[in-house]
Amino acid sequence: MTQLDEDVQAAAAFARAHTEQHVGAFEEAFQKRFDAHFPRLHALFRRLYGDRGDGREALADVIALAAASWQARPLELKARDDLRDADPDWFQSQRMLGGVCYVDRYAGGLTGIRDQIPYFQELGLTYLHLMPLFESPEGNSDGGYAVSSYRRVNPALGTMEELAELAADLRLAGISLVVDFIFNHTSNEHGWAQRAIAGDEGFEDFYLIFPDRTMPDAYEQTVREIFPDDHPGAFVQLDDGRWIWATFYHFQWDLNYANPAVFRAMAGEMLFLANQGVEILRMDAVAFIWKRLGTSCESLPEAHLLLQAFNAVLRMAAPSLLFKSEAIVHPDEVIEYISPAECQLSYNPLQMALTWEALATRDGRLLKKALDERHALPDGTAWVNYVRSHDDIGWTFADEDAAALGIDGYPHRRFLNDFYVGRLPGTFARGVPFQENLKTGDARVTGTTASLAGIEAGDDGGEDRVVLAHALALSTGGIPLLYLGDEVAQLNDYAYADDPDTAGDSRWVHRPRRPAEAYEQRTDVATPAGRVFQRLTRLIDVRQATDELAGNTLLRFDTPHASVVAFQRPGVELLADRILVLANVGDEAVHVDPLTLSGFARGTVDVVTGMPHDLEEGFDLPAHGFAWLRVRPLW
Ligand code: GLC
Repeated sequence: MTQLDEDVQAAAAFARAHTEQHVGAFEEAFQKRFDAHFPRLHALFRRLYGDRGDGREALADVIALAAASWQARPLELKARDDLRDADPDWFQSQRMLGGVCYVDRYAGGLTGIRDQIPYFQELGLTYLHLMPLFESPEGNSDGGYAVSSYRRVNPALGTMEELAELAADLRLAGISLVVDFIFNHTSNEHGWAQRAIAGDEGFEDFYLIFPDRTMPDAYEQTVREIFPDDHPGAFVQLDDGRWIWATFYHFQWDLNYANPAVFRAMAGEMLFLANQGVEILRMDAVAFIWKRLGTSCESLPEAHLLLQAFNAVLRMAAPSLLFKSEAIVHPDEVIEYISPAECQLSYNPLQMALTWEALATRDGRLLKKALDERHALPDGTAWVNYVRSHDDIGWTFADEDAAALGIDGYPHRRFLNDFYVGRLPGTFARGVPFQENLKTGDARVTGTTASLAGIEAGDDGGEDRVVLAHALALSTGGIPLLYLGDEVAQLNDYAYADDPDTAGDSRWVHRPRRPAEAYEQRTDVATPAGRVFQRLTRLIDVRQATDELAGNTLLRFDTPHASVVAFQRPGVELLADRILVLANVGDEAVHVDPLTLSGFARGTVDVVTGMPHDLEEGFDLPAHGFAWLRVRPLW
C-alpha cells in the first residue's frame, strides 16, 4: 500500500467511525457510493485544506451529514436516483425544455406555481427554475439572492413543506425542479453572519472580515467591481468600522471557503435541499467562491476543487442531483466548470450574448465562430441555452475571437451597449443600461427579449428576431431555457423605477409580473403575443419531435454569407439524417446557392413548416428568417 492509499484508508476509517458514533452504521447503498467517491473527496480536501486538523474533522462531519441525509432521503427520491442512474443522459434529450420565473411575480406564491402546472405542460416544460425563494431581507434582497436561511422559504411565498410538495407535483408532471444554491454569500441577516460579526466562537472565520483598510486595499488592486452602483470595490464597512467582503450588494457577504467549517455548513444546506426534491441546483456565482491576494479572485483553481467536492458529496447522498454552473465570464473560463465531476450543466452566456451581437450587427460571423469552435463539451454534460435571463447581458466574448474577424473588442462592446440601450440612431432595441462604470467604460444591458428585439419600438423585424433568437437556442443542443413571459412577447416594465426597493437595479425592467393579458391573447394571431406564442410553440413541438436535435454535437457548415449562421445537428446517435440550421440575422433576404448545399441529397423537408424542398434550387432565407432542414449528407 502506498502512503497515499494509507492516508485515504485512515481518513475513511476515521470518517466511518465518526459517522457510526453520530448517525449509525453505513447503509449498503451508501457504503458503495462512499467507497466510489470518498477517495476523490479526500484528495480534494487535501488540496483545499492541506493538513489542517480541522480539515480532517470537517471531512468526517461531511460524511456523517451525507450518511444521515441518505438515511432521511424519501423513497420517492431514491427511486428517482435509480431512474437517473439507468438513464444518465436523460438531460440530453430533445424533449428537454426549461422555463424560469420568479415565484411572486409569476404566480404570487408556491400555490400559484402549482396552479400553473397545466400551462407548463401545455408549453412542454421538463425543467422549471424557480428564482430564489428563501428567507431573505425585507426590501432589496437582490431578488432573493441574499439568503437569510437556506431551510426556510420566504413566508410570503409559502413553506418548505409546500416546496417539497410542489417538487413532487412537478415530478409527476414530468418537470424537474431547479432552485438556486447561492453559496458564494449569505445575506447580512443570516444567523451565521450575525454570529460572525458578534465574534461568536466558530463563526468569526465564516466571512472575510478585516480590522482596517490594509487588506481590502491590497485585494482591490486586482479585483473587479461587480456592482459599482451599490459600492465601490469589493468590501463594505461594518458599523463597528471593520470591513467585510461583499462582491455583490453590500448586504451579500461572501463566505470564506478557506475555512473548512464553511464547506461543512454549506454541504449541510445543500443536502437538505436535495432531500426536498430539487433535481438541479443552479450554482450561483461560481467564479467568486475562492479568493487569493494578488489575483482577480475569479475562477481560481480552488473554485473548481470546491465545486468538485460538493459534487462528490452529492454523488454519495443524492446521486441524481445535477449542478448547473452560473459562470458569466470569459468563455475559456466558462468551459472549465463543465464536467461530470463538477457541473454537468452550464449556462451558455457566449451563445446568448453573441445572438444579440449578431442581431445588432446583422453579421453572424462571431456567433458562427463560437458555435464552430467553442460549442463542444465533454460527454455527460450539456449547455443550457437561453435568449436572456433575469440578469443583464454582458458582452463576454473573447477578444481574440473578435480580433480574428477584424473586430476590436473594446469599441465593439461600447457599440453593443449603445445599440441596445437605444442610444444609436436607427436602433430597434429598447434596453436600459446596467452598472455602467464610468471609470472603466464597462456596462451591461437589460431588457426583455421583445423589447430588445424591436417589438417595443414597433420595428417590423421585431417578432421575427424574437423567434429567430429562440430558434437558435432551441436548435444548438442541450437544454433550451425560456424566460417565462417571453413566449408571449412581454415588454419592459418601467414601473421598477418607482419602487425604492428596485429603482436602483435596472434588471427589474425585464422581470415583469406575469403578463396576464398577453397570455390571454396567446391564441389570437392578430396580436404580437399570439403570433410569437404560436410560432414559438410550433418550434418547441418540432424540436421535441426531432431526434437530430438531441445532445450537443454540432457540425460546421459554411455559407458565403456573413449574415447567415449555419450548422448541422446529427443527434446523439449520429443519425443518417441531420438537421441543417440556416439562420439569417440580416435585414436583407439571402439566397443560399445550390452549390453550397450540394453535399446533401436534393430532396429535403423543412421540419418547421413541413414543406418539402429541392436543394438544387438553393434555399431562400427571408430577412431575420431561419430554417431547420432535414438533410441527408451524400458523403
Ligand atoms: C448571480 C445572479 C444575480 C445575482 C448574483 C449575486 O449572478 O444571477 O442575479 O445578483 O448572482 O447573487
